[in-house]
Amino acid sequence: MSLISEVSAFDTRVPAYLQRLEHVMDTYLPSVDTDPDRLHQAMRYACNGGKHLRALLVYASGEALRVEPERLDPPACAIEFIHAYSLVHDDLPGMDNDDLRRGHPTVHKAYDEATAILVGDALQTLAFGALANANALDAEQKVGMVSGLALAAGSLGMAGGQAVDMASEGCTLSIGQLESLHGRKTGALIRAACQLAGIAAKAPAPARQALDQYGKCLGLAFQIQDDVLDLIADTITLGKTAGKDQAQHKSTFPSVLGLEQAQHRAAALFNEARSAARHVSSDPEPLLWLADYIQQRDH
Ligand code: IPE
Ligand code: IPE
Ligand code: MG
Ligand code: MG
Ligand code: MG
Repeated sequence: MSLISEVSAFDTRVPAYLQRLEHVMDTYLPSVDTDPDRLHQAMRYACNGGKHLRALLVYASGEALRVEPERLDPPACAIEFIHAYSLVHDDLPGMDNDDLRRGHPTVHKAYDEATAILVGDALQTLAFGALANANALDAEQKVGMVSGLALAAGSLGMAGGQAVDMASEGCTLSIGQLESLHGRKTGALIRAACQLAGIAAKAPAPARQALDQYGKCLGLAFQIQDDVLDLIADTITLGKTAGKDQAQHKSTFPSVLGLEQAQHRAAALFNEARSAARHVSSDPEPLLWLADYIQQRDH
């Protein structure tokens, strides 16, 4: 553990942020006995577990910019709903065909494929509804957040990256192509988490640019690390099937650069993210803590 992690004040607030997030997500999600109850049960199932890193990124960025948590709750939930939907669809037989997610059967295994598709659809609209109906935000902030998240989640962002990921199976991509793919499929939402906090703060342009650079580096580092963990970690630790990328002939950073070079590239990007964090505000500690925390993750 680095010094930052040991002395971090943000560290001590993380459990409270996660508790807060889970409470607010619970208020947005229809109850399990609301008709159609099977769909609502499956939506809640899809939102269970997970590290909630994207929500923590919203809270950490918001703290660095001194935003009240009330204004961060809607974007934190919205980004987690989009992320949960992306995982449910990513696991479908037509995509990565995975049986295990967060240590439990994937949604299409626990329920069925049609339900999994609908869970994704419904979580996506729930995300945008959460932003559009946020009482703590003014109209300009709501429109800015809806617009930013739409771009990040759509065909120019996450969904587009997923399309390229699927089309690239069996191909060997160049590092440039892989960076572009990872930047879209994973980086776009991570970058959006920072952007939404910048909007909640009404932060000045230089702070937003620094935050965007932080998110961009962190997002790419995060997916390189996901590729590395897929190769070196075990299924129990990961909570999802290890070794899937190789089995499905995906181009990944370790497959293109080799394991050691991929790890070096991720470490360099984490350092770049830390440098950018120092330009966000005079209190970058939550962002530095989160970069450490993500870099040290084992799943
Ligand atoms: C997994 O993301 C999917 C990728 C984008 C690599 P996370 O590792 O953040 O998944 P959870 O939410 O913690 O399960
Ligand atoms: C998925 O990437 C990214 C999104 C869900 C958008 P992966 O396919 O590598 O994620 P895991 O490894 O299944 O979590
Ligand atoms: Mg995938
Ligand atoms: Mg996958
Ligand atoms: Mg993966």
